[in-house]
Amino acid sequence: MKKLLILLTLTSFISKADEGMWMPQLIEALNIKDMKKNGFKLSAEQIYSINKASMKDAVAIFGGGCTGELISNKGLILTNHHCGFSSIAALSTVDKDHLKNGYWAMKANEELYCKDLTVVFIKRIEDVTTKVIANLKANYSEVQKDSAIKATIKNLEIQAKKDSQYDAFIRPFFYGNEYYLFITETFKDIRLVGTPPESIGKFGDETDNWVWPRHNADFSMFRIYANKDNKPNEYSENNVPYVPQHSFPISLKGYEKGDFTMVYGFPGRTQEYLTSYAVDLLMNQQDPIKVKLREKRLAIMEADMKFNDTIRLMYTARYAGVANYYKKWSGEMIGLKKSNAVQRKQQLEQEFLNSISGDVPKKEKYSTLLNQFKKIYLEFAPLSKQYDYFTECLWGIECFKFASTFQNLFNELKKKQVGLDNKFDKLLNDTKALIPFKNINPETDKKLCAAMLTIYAQDVESAFRPPYLDSILTTYKNDGQSVANFLYSNSNFTNNKKAKLMLDDFEKNYQLYERDPLFLLATDVLKYYQKTVIPQVNYFELQITELQKEYVKGLRENLKNKKFYPDANGTLRVAYGKVDDYSPKDAVQNLHYTTIDGLVEKNKMGIEDYYVKPRLLELYDKKDFGNYVDKNGKLRIAFIASNHTTGGNSGSPVINAKGELIGTNFDRNWEGTMSDINYNPAFCRNIVLDVRFTLWMIDKYAGAGYLLNEMKLVK
Ligand code: ARG
Ligand code: GLU
Repeated sequence: MKKLLILLTLTSFISKADEGMWMPQLIEALNIKDMKKNGFKLSAEQIYSINKASMKDAVAIFGGGCTGELISNKGLILTNHHCGFSSIAALSTVDKDHLKNGYWAMKANEELYCKDLTVVFIKRIEDVTTKVIANLKANYSEVQKDSAIKATIKNLEIQAKKDSQYDAFIRPFFYGNEYYLFITETFKDIRLVGTPPESIGKFGDETDNWVWPRHNADFSMFRIYANKDNKPNEYSENNVPYVPQHSFPISLKGYEKGDFTMVYGFPGRTQEYLTSYAVDLLMNQQDPIKVKLREKRLAIMEADMKFNDTIRLMYTARYAGVANYYKKWSGEMIGLKKSNAVQRKQQLEQEFLNSISGDVPKKEKYSTLLNQFKKIYLEFAPLSKQYDYFTECLWGIECFKFASTFQNLFNELKKKQVGLDNKFDKLLNDTKALIPFKNINPETDKKLCAAMLTIYAQDVESAFRPPYLDSILTTYKNDGQSVANFLYSNSNFTNNKKAKLMLDDFEKNYQLYERDPLFLLATDVLKYYQKTVIPQVNYFELQITELQKEYVKGLRENLKNKKFYPDANGTLRVAYGKVDDYSPKDAVQNLHYTTIDGLVEKNKMGIEDYYVKPRLLELYDKKDFGNYVDKNGKLRIAFIASNHTTGGNSGSPVINAKGELIGTNFDRNWEGTMSDINYNPAFCRNIVLDVRFTLWMIDKYAGAGYLLNEMKLVK
């Protein structure tokens, strides 16, 4: 009886219904039965096939960190507004502010090429575990193993790419218990087709971010261009719209609570199999430090962005990025505390050990393993703190980053002076192009510098500081403002005029600039962390990965009747679940969808984050919802479902049982942000933009209904 109970609790811990991010090529073996039981109508081969067209041909990595889906056979690709954000910002100026006003191409030649934007498709996935570990010797140390594996991976990737138009990458799964190869195709001529104004795409802005209920139309649309042979090409006027093997039909029929949903995309990172020691460090040290530092940086940026449109455009994408994870970590901290995550993990560890108690050597092995975890996290904690104060505090100062890049310029110049091959002239020109500062407002940065150094001086003891920084801080009695005053008035790197003069006579006077205090400080900081902290952090991470590898192996081997999914790692995954409401707290039930009525109500509150362009309110008054209206006469905006998603799933297609698009994934609920560490089906929800609202915006708001002609609409 006791054994049975233990088993029951354990099975509740790994992959409950709705939990899991599954590898598409294993759906047939692992999930299709369960999916069908939950309503899915298609075959596993229609999700992923190497030989035939399948859904995977319509799902792409968008811009490096998001997902996008094809919705026409002319390369039209849909993603989130926040995923297109930096490309739209780059195309915007104070006069032609596409972010603020929105943008819609009314014909092909109005589609705007987005420099540096890529879209990547997966052609094929292959298990290469045996090949990757083939050359490992039993007596290798962890570091030797790691280098050997890295070298093998590199070779395998090169071989895989050889003689083909494709790229390839290999990733570890289950902490290196398995390895998979991904063959990919990258498109580089991507053009903006349309975006709603920021006030609608980002409606609710930071107030509503990570929160349900939600009312923003978080979408933007692009088109993939290819050469005449339908192959990727650099930007060219002669390129033509890409013709994909598959694009998603779009359902106008909506959904009800309980309906099957599937999310197909590229989740970035989860850590579902952490031990209690790791969760303790995460929620009691790592998250709080990062949250505290970001809060300060955000307040400073926000104040300056409010007063000046140039500064706003300069910082807006960065601000959104910093704010996003600031809020996510805050929610995660609360969620983990509230759900007693550390105790829960401890319980699991105990239950796991109990479940193998019949096998003494095994039990001993895993008890030792768990003790090793304990020891290593104790040692790792102070190092982790140092690392976070480097990345989130000192490297949050833009001029430090900027000045440190000059090391390269000095090195190249020295090569040039002795007649060696060098890149000095090109590098100098590239740097000149950054002045006047395109990315940094020196006054804002000076405030950031003062604030960050003040916190740093309070929180980081002298013995753990880079020497030059420590001596400056000591000179100025640990007062960040005085240090910032000293740096920003004596440096050539923090002032447009001085920076320009410096670059104009750089070759002649370089020795002067090498003694610049900000340059000296930035390089001192970088060197210190690169030499003393980062290698140690890497070493610990390697050891932790090795322990995790054993731990996860133990779980998988001993809980035989359970299905395990690998943590997210930026590769293609399928999550399935259902449209569902949830209860955030006692006596409160959150409905599973929102409507435009809610947007208008929020707008009436008069809060800045709920401002919308008047045109939307005029259209609302006319109630002209066309084909996009729900059965009950309402125009829905967003809905929630129990799909297990994470960062990177933004822009992912949300698909119904018949493989038709019903929405675009864009966020998670506040109560569920801890799902990267501790998924709980009771209240972890993904947030989805209803595709009918997207179409309504394109058709009625933007007047770009011509675009609907190339889509397959299912009525
Ligand atoms: N929270 C969503 C995601 O993780 C949306 C982010 C949009 N950015 C923002 N700062 N509002 O990416
Ligand atoms: N907004 C996230 C993204 O950009 C998705 C939300 C999440 O983390 O689940 O990928």
